[in-house]
Formats: sequence, C-alpha cells, structure tokens
Amino acid sequence: MTKRIILIVGARPNFMKAAPLLKQLQLHSDKFEASLIHTGQHYDYELSQLFFEQLKMKPPDIFLGVGSGSHAYQTAQIMMRLEELLIEKKPDLVIVFGDVNSTMAGAIVAAKLCIGVAHVEAGLRSFDNTMPEEINRIVTDRLSQYLFVTEASGKRNLMHEGVPDENIYLVGNIMIDSLINSLSPADGSDILDRLGLRPGEYATLTLHRPSNVDDKSVLEDLLIVLGKVGMKTPVVFPCHPRTMKNLTEFGLSGKYNKDALRIIEPLGYLDFLKLQKESRFVLTDSGGIQEETTYLGIPCLTLRNNTERPVTVEAGSNTVTAIDPAKIYEAIDQILDGSYKSGTAPELWDGNTAERIVNIIIKELCDIS
Ligand code: UD1
Repeated sequence: MTKRIILIVGARPNFMKAAPLLKQLQLHSDKFEASLIHTGQHYDYELSQLFFEQLKMKPPDIFLGVGSGSHAYQTAQIMMRLEELLIEKKPDLVIVFGDVNSTMAGAIVAAKLCIGVAHVEAGLRSFDNTMPEEINRIVTDRLSQYLFVTEASGKRNLMHEGVPDENIYLVGNIMIDSLINSLSPADGSDILDRLGLRPGEYATLTLHRPSNVDDKSVLEDLLIVLGKVGMKTPVVFPCHPRTMKNLTEFGLSGKYNKDALRIIEPLGYLDFLKLQKESRFVLTDSGGIQEETTYLGIPCLTLRNNTERPVTVEAGSNTVTAIDPAKIYEAIDQILDGSYKSGTAPELWDGNTAERIVNIIIKELCDIS
C-alpha cells in the first residue's frame, strides 16, 4: 500500500529544500503518494511562484493563502487551516523544512494529530531565543520523529537535548542539491549584464532579520557602514520586502550613497545564484546564504552576533562579523589583499541529500510494514 506523505512549505527558503525531496519521492510513486501544501506565508511572485518555476517544481497541490501578520496570528492561521486538511487527508508522514513559522505550525498540528513528523534541517541552534527562528527550530525538533541534520553540530545539539540517537540522521544539506542542479541554468542568467556588473568587481548584500531591519537606528547605522564598504567595492542589494518597507517607513530611502550601495528588487533563484557566485564577497544575515557561499567558496560576512551554522565558519568561507564596523572592514581588507581564509564544502554537501532522506523514509515507513 502506498504511503501518503505531505510536504509543507511556506516561505522562500523552504522551496529550494523541498524541490529535490519532492522529485525524489515522485521517483518512488509505487511507494509514496506525495503532495505539497503551501501555506502562503510568502505570496509575492518574486518570493514564491518564481521559485517554483525556476526549480521546476510542480505547483502546490493546496495553497492556504494565509499571508502576513504577527507571529501568533500567522502561526495560528496556518495551524487552523492545516488541521482541517490533515484530518481530511490522514497522511502517514508530514515533512517540514527549515525554521520559518510554517515549519513550526506544521509540526505542531501534525504531532497533535499523532501523525509522524520529519524535520529537514534539524538540530541547528543559535542559542539566541530572541530570533523567532530559534523558537521554531526548538519546537519543531521536539515534536519530530525523523530529524534530518545538515552538519555535525546539529547532531550534537539534539543529543544534548535528549533526542535518541536513532532518530537523528546526518544526511547533508538538501539546499546544496538544488544549488548543484541549478548551477548550469544559473550560468545562463544575464543578471550581470542587466546590472552592468563584471564578475569579481562587486559585493552582494542581503538583509532581512528583524534585529537588523526593524529598528530605525540599527538600520540607519548599518546603511552608513555598508555605504563605506561600497566605496571600496560597490555593493548590490536585492532587497527583501520587509526591509524595503522599513526603509520607506523610517524615511531612510534617500539617506545612503546610491553609487556605493545599489538597492534592487528581490531576485529569482537563478539570478541570485549567478549574482552570488560571481561576487567578490557577500554580506548577509541569511542562514541559507552562509551555506551557499560556503559551498561556492565565496567569502561571506555574516551581519549577526551568532550563527546556527557553525560549520560554515569552521570549514567554510564564513566569518561572523556582527554589525561591528571594525570586524567588517578587517575582513574586507583581508579579502581584497588575498589573505582571507579559503574554505571547503562540509561532509555530505554533495547533491545527494534528497536521495539519502528518501532511502531512510523507505526503510522506516515501507520496509517494516
Ligand atoms: C521569513 C522567515 C525567515 C526567513 C525569511 C526569508 C519566519 C519567522 N521568518 O521572514 O526565517 O529567513 O522569511 O525571506 O518565518 N512580505 C511581502 N511579501 C511576501 C511576504 C512578506 O511583502 O510575499 C512582507 C510583509 O510586509 C510581511 C513581511 O514581509 O509582513 C515579513 O514577512 P514574514 O513572512 O512574516 O517574515 P520574513 O521577514 O519574510
């Protein structure tokens, strides 16, 4: 008998994690009936539909359309709508990805209905509960039976929290499966021509964490530092809607050097991959971009006080500079004079993570029944 599996996604960083897994499950249609629920946490074309098109992912089977709101409102809306659906569909397993509100909401609803939960990208910890994502990670992991881990620190963290060893699977990084599959189509992107950029002569910036963009004075200080960085190496900034909205609301839109810091609309997956790959360096507060730059060997400066992805610092090309100007300028000097560290890709970040996960699910769900 085929097993019913529901994958739940909602926000931009989920889509490149779900795409390879969905495709791999579809290869085993004799064993699984896999469907995709999109909560609608992200709904703008550039943050959602464009990714489905570029990742060649089938459109969601069900779109919940919850939209934006406070954390409690958004999470509650997702839970209410998912509960009805999961009661109706009675899946054998629910799979959630990463650390967004849709991830935690999916895990809570499934667990309360006694449906097994698999968490892809389990075990990461920043040990900073002021990050909404940290709370989402802790709750989701606590409720999951299958914890698929990207790096060794994830396994250590889960074991410290008392998760049984047999529930933890170090499978590598599924986002790197998507990256590897998309490198050649991304090479066909004309984003550099469109922006008049030459490989290696610019830096890429992303910024969307509430701690960096929700407070006017923090954001203003950051713009000053980034403007100075841009005097040495021009900075291109595909701007998240949350950040764009705050720049306007805080009256900061005109208050930075537009030659040094160039704000553009959010980019699709392939354009962003190309932009990232050809950058001299990347500045970011995103988790996924710390990992992508590590795989690509591009220097990455993380504009946060911590990272839940320590392997990107220990083995990879990432440095946590926070928003400390001295640390940022020092790292950039090293990058520009060639003395910055060169990293390597961590164990199992090899493009085969989805296959490893599906083999485990087959063994656990199909072979024993
Ligand atoms: C969410 C995730 C974050 C992830 C990020 C990637 C949580 C808690 N946060 O943050 O972990 O790194 O996605 O982008 O789940 N908005 C739009 N269009 C959209 C979606 C949002 O304009 O399609 C704007 C709205 O003003 C909204 C704001 O962005 O209020 C924030 O959206 P939300 O989904 O709450 O969080 P993100 O900041 O996107």
